Formats: sequence, structure tokens, C-alpha cells
Amino acid sequence: MRVTVNPNLVEMEYAVRGPIPMRAAELEAQGRKTIPCNIGNPQALGQDPITFYREVISLLEAPGRIARERRLRGVTGVASEDLLDEYVLDVAEHVLAQMKTGLGAYSESKGPRFIREAVAAYIDRRDEVDGRVAVASDPDRIFLTNGASEGAMFILEILISGPDDGVMIPIPQYPLYSAAIKRCGGSLVGYYPDEERGWEMDREILEASLAEAKGRGVNVKAIVVINPGNPTGAILAEHSIGEVIDFAEEHGLLIIADEVYQHNVYGAEFVSFARVLGEREVSLFSLHSTSKGFYGECGHRGGYLEVRNAPLLQGYDLDFADALLKRASVSLCPNTVGQAMTYLMVAEPKEGSPPWERFVAERDAVLAALQDKATLIREALGEMRGVECFGRTGAMYLFPRLSGLPEGTGDFDYCMALLEETGLCTVNGSGFHQRPGTSHLRIAFLPPKEMLAEVLPRWIAFHNAYVG
Ligand SMILES: Cc1ncc(COP(=O)(O)O)c(C=O)c1O
Repeated sequence: MRVTVNPNLVEMEYAVRGPIPMRAAELEAQGRKTIPCNIGNPQALGQDPITFYREVISLLEAPGRIARERRLRGVTGVASEDLLDEYVLDVAEHVLAQMKTGLGAYSESKGPRFIREAVAAYIDRRDEVDGRVAVASDPDRIFLTNGASEGAMFILEILISGPDDGVMIPIPQYPLYSAAIKRCGGSLVGYYPDEERGWEMDREILEASLAEAKGRGVNVKAIVVINPGNPTGAILAEHSIGEVIDFAEEHGLLIIADEVYQHNVYGAEFVSFARVLGEREVSLFSLHSTSKGFYGECGHRGGYLEVRNAPLLQGYDLDFADALLKRASVSLCPNTVGQAMTYLMVAEPKEGSPPWERFVAERDAVLAALQDKATLIREALGEMRGVECFGRTGAMYLFPRLSGLPEGTGDFDYCMALLEETGLCTVNGSGFHQRPGTSHLRIAFLPPKEMLAEVLPRWIAFHNAYVG
């Protein structure tokens, strides 16, 4: 029997879990050791979770433990270091009291108000300039989500009404966007940040892409910006963000700012779209996630979507946030553990509180290790013939440009050969829709340092032999 299905779903592509990682899985099954640098999944590569988060979550899942912990205080034979700190118990109690019905019940579709208020307070703290925020974040315009992917999907599902509806995305791009546009049956409109200027953007680049799309009859409705970038890892300068906002304002486009790597900036300052937008009335959707940063809680599927200046819907007495609420309602609610994780991500332990010191030490250690590993890889790239890597280091990736590949081969062949030869699993640049005629690969700088130290010399040797 054959069944007709939605071809958009079958034709979606997702290189991060594509043929190269699939081949790596085959090699592993045959007993070969591989090094999975294909995906930003930190805890799969040995990154420890932040203790404070997990202590609180464990109590939320088993609330009876709070009273038990308290009963055990002062009992002879129970060492105080075997007990959770009172502060942790208080935070868990607070979350449970606010959630009212615990983790096992559906919540409000947007997520409970106290978490949305905590998200809004976090955004305001983050975007403060000289002690003030231009426009305070509104908890009613925040939606908790099952990861940023869900937030992006919700926006695109609502926005794309047919094949002529276009969304501009940066090329190279994170395949969530090409896959979601495909799935929704819209048109992908690529724009090309300038690699040699560290992947910065200007009006000329954006206007060229818009004109090209209009020329083929596409009605461009939104522009996606990923900052810090995936796959490039580059961190946008404030003036590039300003140019995107000017451009969106002039052409009446919505901005979708994917800011899931806002904590992965390694010494540089992260500047949000909301901060640069200030009081201007351009529609902005910003996404954040519990999956990245120093928390790396990918499996918990938490995150939020913040909407500013929601546009009205043509033909309805509703705005975009109403439509988002309707869409969120159909999914009932995001998972409650992810909601709690989102709360913890935005509401750090109080400075000076008992968990504070360990929290800061764990946070700083994760970020320092990521920076160190990126540096190690950059140094190795410097020893490879014809390889250049542009942009400041952000997110969890480097996206070096390869030149001098053997005639008739591309970056897919290179990455496959690299995997077979060294066990290093990366993703070919072509999986991210790179500029035609160029070759790249994306490497996630997540594996333990010892693993990198072992494989990098072999990669250099492989590379210099491969390009001849
Ligand atoms: C730019 C970007 N956006 C969104 C996501 C998905 O995040 P989440 O796990 O929150 O769905 C990723 C994951 O790698 C990403 O790199």
C-alpha cells in the first residue's frame, strides 16, 4: 500500500544529522571511535550540567524530598555536605508554589506568568544601558517553548500562507530555517553576510537579496538573523544589527532574531536586537533556549520567544501574538521541566547566596573550556594549507573556508574522507547552503580537550595530504 503525504516534509533536509553523522554512527557500530563535532549538544560530549539547576529540578520532580531533606538536618550520622542547601530547597518550594499544580499538570499555554515575568526581568537586566532599558519587556508578550526550534516553527507556520511568501535567511544558515520554510511551503530567500568582513552585514547585501526575490515574484515578509551565528560562530557588530533594523523598517519586514548563543560570546559583549531596536516600532521576535550557553540543557527542551511590536493580522481583528497563543494552545503547553529550566536560566542564584560561588565557578569553567578549545582548533586550522577562518569566535562552532580541494570534489567528499581517516565527524558547508563556489566545514568545539589534542595533528596531516 502507498499513501500520499506532504512532500514538503519528505523533502526537508537537515545536514546536522545527515549522511556524515549517519556514516559516523555506522563506524561506531563497527567498533571505530569517532569524535562527534557535528552538533551543538554539549552534554553528549561530557559537559557537566550546572549543579544548582539539577538540584532544583530534582526537587521539583520529587517534591516529597524537600520535607525529607529538612527532617534530616541535625540528625546524627547525616553529614551536612550530603544535604541540599536550604537556599536550593527554598527555590524549589517557590517554583512549586508558583506553579501551583506541579510538573505533572498542563500549564498555561504560554507558560506560567511567574516564569514569563522572570524572563522579562532577565531581558531588561541584559539590555540595560546606563541603568535604563529603552522599552521594558512585557511578560504577556513572552511565550515559553519546547526549545527555540518550536518558537521558530510557530512563527513561520503563522506567517507563511503560500509558496510566494518568502523569508530571508542568512547563508550559510542553520538548517532549522530552511527545513521550517520548506515544511510550511514558503520560499527561502538567502542573503550573504560578508565572510571576509567577519560575516558582517550591510544594506547593500540585504537589498540585493530582496531585489532578487522580488524579481522572481516572492513576497518577502520576514528576515531571520542568527547572532551569534550558526554555522559561522560569528558575533554581529552593533552597526550590523542597526542596518538590519533599518532595512526591516523600510521594507515592512518582521525580524526573527535567533539569539540562542547569547552567552557564548567569549569575552565579547552580546548586544541583543531588542536593545538596538529600542523604541522603534519594527516587529521583533527573539528566541532563546536552554540548550546552549553554559547550561547546554538540550534534552530538556526549554526556551522562550519574546514578541515586540506584534503586527496586526490582515483580515482579522487579531495581532500576531494572538495567533501565537492560538498555535501554542493547540500544543497545550511546553513541557514543564523545560519551563522550570528556563526559569532557572533566567533567574540565577542570588549573588552571595550559598550556591552562588559554585554556580559561578561551574559557569566560568564551561565558558573558558569552550574558548580554549576554539583556540586550539583555530591554531590547527592555521597549519592547514588553503584554510581560512573569518569572524570573531562565538556560539560553539568554527566554519573554516577550504580551498584547493581536488578537482571534481566538494566539501561533502572532504568531510566524509576526514571522518573515514580520522574519526572526526564534522558537517560539510554545503549542508548549510553556503555561497556557490565556496567550500567549508563546520566543527563544533565541544569535545574534551584531550580528544581534540589527539585528533587535531591527524586532521592537519590528513588535510595537507588531501589538498596536495
Ligand atoms: C541557531 C540555532 N537556533 C536554534 C537551535 C535549536 O535550539 P533548541 O534546542 O532550543 O530547539 C539551534 C541548535 O543548535 C541553533 O543552533
